[in-house]
Amino acid sequence: MYRWDPDLYHTSSSPQSGWASDLLEKIRFLGNERVLDIGCGDGKITAAIAGRVPGGKVTGIDSSPDMIGFARGHYHVGEVHNLSFEVCDMRELPFVNGFDLVFSNASMHWVKEHDIVLKCIERALVPGGRMLIQMGGKGNAADIFAVIEKIIPDEPYAGYFKGFLSPYAFYGPEDYLPWLQSAELIPVRVELLPKVMVQHGYEGLSGWIKTTWHPYLECIPKDLQSRFIKDIYRHYIADHQPDPQGNIMIGMVRLEVEAIKPLE
Ligand SMILES: C[S@@+](CC[C@H](N)C(=O)[O-])C[C@H]1O[C@@H](n2cnc3c(N)ncnc32)[C@H](O)[C@@H]1O
Repeated sequence: MYRWDPDLYHTSSSPQSGWASDLLEKIRFLGNERVLDIGCGDGKITAAIAGRVPGGKVTGIDSSPDMIGFARGHYHVGEVHNLSFEVCDMRELPFVNGFDLVFSNASMHWVKEHDIVLKCIERALVPGGRMLIQMGGKGNAADIFAVIEKIIPDEPYAGYFKGFLSPYAFYGPEDYLPWLQSAELIPVRVELLPKVMVQHGYEGLSGWIKTTWHPYLECIPKDLQSRFIKDIYRHYIADHQPDPQGNIMIGMVRLEVEAIKPLE
């Protein structure tokens, strides 16, 4: 399991927060729903959901104890009566018929076994309940991957990535439709959405690499990590010039899936 830095994530995750806000806009809340947020991270989005369901309850789960500790410390669990956070792996959700809505943003591409997660989600939903999830999808951050593939075979990184397998799983509708069927969830929408991520200059790109590409950084010694990030930046901007304000555009692809658990 990878070690997350919640403080850094909290300050360097405005693109993820933006995607989450757009996703939340697609839900018409009644205000009394029971909601499960899978891979809730620092808890910012989970707390925003809690604000929309004052008569319901929201549970955020995440496999990182550091993230859950941060979420509990920052979002006043106990004072906000309808919000709780639990350390839990999304492949082992223990919930049965407990939620009207399962939500997830920018988290599920961190596991490969989506067929298992979908079965857990189906079990967690009440009949008629809804799932709305978004994650990195097929083709996500392809130009950044191309840069990384280009630089890691060369010195001084050659050797550090032997046997390394990317932890990310970027799927498409053709993967998801059969998994939804075998989880007995009815698909409403399964689509790849191209998005542009904007990072401001080297600082922005570096913050993003440090927070969400840490599996790559962990392969190399600490004293090479900032050089590695600078090399990614240098190679990337050689082909993708920042705009006059210094903004760097990165092509992302999100997989968005909406599905319903059938009524019994
Ligand atoms: C990029 S963060 C997204 C956080 C939040 N949903 C947001 O939109 O800002 C990804 C989160 O997925 C969590 N995660 C990764 N693998 C997981 C797993 N197997 N089970 C539960 N959470 C997991 C990480 O710990 C991390 O907090």
